[in-house]
Amino acid sequence: MAPFSWYLNVTSETSLKPISPCKISNIQLRFLCPADIRDVWTLCLECFPIEYPQCWYEEITSNPKFYSLAALHEGRIIGLIVAEIKEYVKLCHEDKDIISPCLGGATEVGYILSLAVNRNYRRNGIASLLLDNLITHLTSKEYSSCKAIFLHVLTTNTAAINFYERKRFRVTAYFVYNNNRLIFKQFVIQMFGND
Ligand SMILES: CC(C)(COP(=O)(O)OP(=O)(O)OC[C@H]1O[C@@H](n2cnc3c(N)ncnc32)[C@H](O)[C@@H]1OP(=O)(O)O)[C@@H](O)C(=O)NCCC(=O)NCCS
Repeated sequence: MAPFSWYLNVTSETSLKPISPCKISNIQLRFLCPADIRDVWTLCLECFPIEYPQCWYEEITSNPKFYSLAALHEGRIIGLIVAEIKEYVKLCHEDKDIISPCLGGATEVGYILSLAVNRNYRRNGIASLLLDNLITHLTSKEYSSCKAIFLHVLTTNTAAINFYERKRFRVTAYFVYNNNRLIFKQFVIQMFGND
């Protein structure tokens, strides 16, 4: 997949109107499909300080290796989570500390590439709904070899850090990227009961 590029100022806003309070029972979840690319692009542009290439949007909306779930309100995508299951043995060296290597070569881990909620809909439990759905999926019998979920988040992203700490993820490492300009925290939640 082509690399993404960073940008520092996000000025784009979506035209979605705020709803307050948002009833979680009015939110539907479904998997992303190629027809969603434009809406996903708009949401990511608003939420992330990076510019993903077109092929990234094509991949996450069509490749079944991604668990790409959208949250919808009145038919509009207002949140998403994108995750991938990775074989532990294929993780890069710095990610291997997230679980003990003695768990065995067949061990898998979930990696969260993206989690985003439109700013007008935040603090309504929508990210929690998306993450809980992913965790339920990865703790099902089908994924009994999946022992942890991990992700990277910028150390400046207080909202996300609070969110993941509230969801019982813990910090396992710090990474520097882009000539020390960006520092990430690596967060992990372990699922050792998953067998
Ligand atoms: C991080 C993000 C996904 C949270 O989405 P959300 O739908 O608002 O999250 P929830 O409503 O489920 O929040 C659950 C808890 O997380 C914590 N939290 C979420 N946003 C927070 C904020 N801005 N400040 C402090 N704590 C926050 C709170 O403990 C919150 O519980 P509370 O509202 O009862 O206090 C959202 O802020 C977002 O899309 N940010 C931009 C994209 C991003 O940074 N993604 C994460 C990196 S992949």
